[in-house]
Amino acid sequence: MPVSIVIGSQWGDEGKGKITDLLSPDVDIVARYQGGANAGHTIAWEDESGAEEEFVLHLVPSGIFHDNVTCVIGNGVVLDPKAVLEEIEKIQALGVDVENRLKISHNAHLIMPYHKAVEAAQEQERASANDDDEIGTTGRGIGPAYTDKFARTGIRVVDLLDRDVLRQKLRRSIEEKNAILRDVYDAEALDVDRIVEEYVEFDQKIDSYVTDTSKYLCRALDRDKRVLAEGAQGSLLDVDFGSYPFVTSSHPTAGGCCTGLGVPPTEVERVLGIAKAYCTRVGNGPFPTELDNEAGEELRQKGGEFGATTGRPRRCGWLDLVALRYTSMINGFNELAVTKLDVLSGMDELKVCTQYRYDGKTTRRFPSEAQTLERVEPLYETLDGWDEDISGVRHFADLPTEAQDYLRFIAEYIGVEIGLLSNGPRRGQIIKDVAPAATA
Ligand code: GDP
Ligand code: IMO
Ligand code: MG
Repeated sequence: MPVSIVIGSQWGDEGKGKITDLLSPDVDIVARYQGGANAGHTIAWEDESGAEEEFVLHLVPSGIFHDNVTCVIGNGVVLDPKAVLEEIEKIQALGVDVENRLKISHNAHLIMPYHKAVEAAQEQERASANDDDEIGTTGRGIGPAYTDKFARTGIRVVDLLDRDVLRQKLRRSIEEKNAILRDVYDAEALDVDRIVEEYVEFDQKIDSYVTDTSKYLCRALDRDKRVLAEGAQGSLLDVDFGSYPFVTSSHPTAGGCCTGLGVPPTEVERVLGIAKAYCTRVGNGPFPTELDNEAGEELRQKGGEFGATTGRPRRCGWLDLVALRYTSMINGFNELAVTKLDVLSGMDELKVCTQYRYDGKTTRRFPSEAQTLERVEPLYETLDGWDEDISGVRHFADLPTEAQDYLRFIAEYIGVEIGLLSNGPRRGQIIKDVAPAATA
């Protein structure tokens, strides 16, 4: 059972890119299974001169910087052909071979300019109809592209390879979207001919990457190859299990891996939940432990909490264990990776949400429906902080006792061991010998 899945356990940006890059030397294939260029997965390292380098991936899987790895963009991803080609060029400029190491599913749906235009119009409409009612999307066309997929009117990668079919499908779709833009949203219509001509050009550029990736992955699994599935976004943004409608339009959760790659669930052995040592959220929607104060600002500044895709400041707050226990339940995490523990250094005390109060009662149940989640009051336990800079520590035993206790508290509450601890953005900043918690 050689499939492992890396899953965001909160609202995204937990450090999935860093952990995927870290695990890549031990696998043969790294595959994205959902989402699109709304993701921003950062990989940071030091070059030979000691200078800090950083690369933010949006569509190409985070295994691309390891020569041993083949990268797959699965059928469940919504692919912006322009964005992926630009990203490939940027990676190639670093001297990395992409041509022979990236496979794109022939069944993945395409993001078109009209998806972004419809999304912008919808968001504007929501904002003006009711203050603050917009979702705060990334503007990458994700929702409208998945809408077309499920309405069975989408255009897929395979359609790029037949210019006549593509022309016909594009024309029909753009005309339909133009009617919506003009008549429903009073927005500007798009130029049909310009888009058709631009997109028919993508066939040759993308042709060499296009593969039946489900078949490729299943054959690789038959030959005992190891696959790492890289989730995007976070479980609390899942379209079914997140705080709907303030969610993304896909399934970042474990189930999404099988449908998004076309691999059987019986092949999955490791489900690794990535949890930031505190919480962040970008965009609108309920966030019970949000700190709209100085402490929140301190986390934002120390943690560099600004979106890797949109640059928006991330909302910051204390660690929410009620939410983490819920995402552990729906994903079946058998291991946790805790990231950004270094950011908590220097805080006198650390609060951790262990219960919600709702309608006068306390509960450990996470209500995913937005209306209820908006009204819960987080109840905290307070743990001691530590002053030391821990970003250079490489062994659990060398961490301050308070930091060790913080991690044990998390593992005990969730009932899942912490297998990895990240204490800085760079590759080497990782602790792999986290001591087991007594009751996990
Ligand atoms: P992803 O979307 O889950 O891949 O996460 P992002 O890349 O959007 O955001 C995580 C940010 O935190 C990036 O800037 C990373 O370089 C950085 N990061 C990852 N792990 C750590 C860590 O342990 N400590 C610190 N200080 N930064 C980290
Ligand atoms: P990674 O993979 C954080 C959020 C948006 C918005 C909501 C819907 O880097 O963790 P969408 O554009 O998907 O329709 O927006 O989801 N969102 C993310 N937040 N990290 C992400 O990806 C996100 N991708 C989408 O801010 O609230
Ligand atoms: Mg991100």
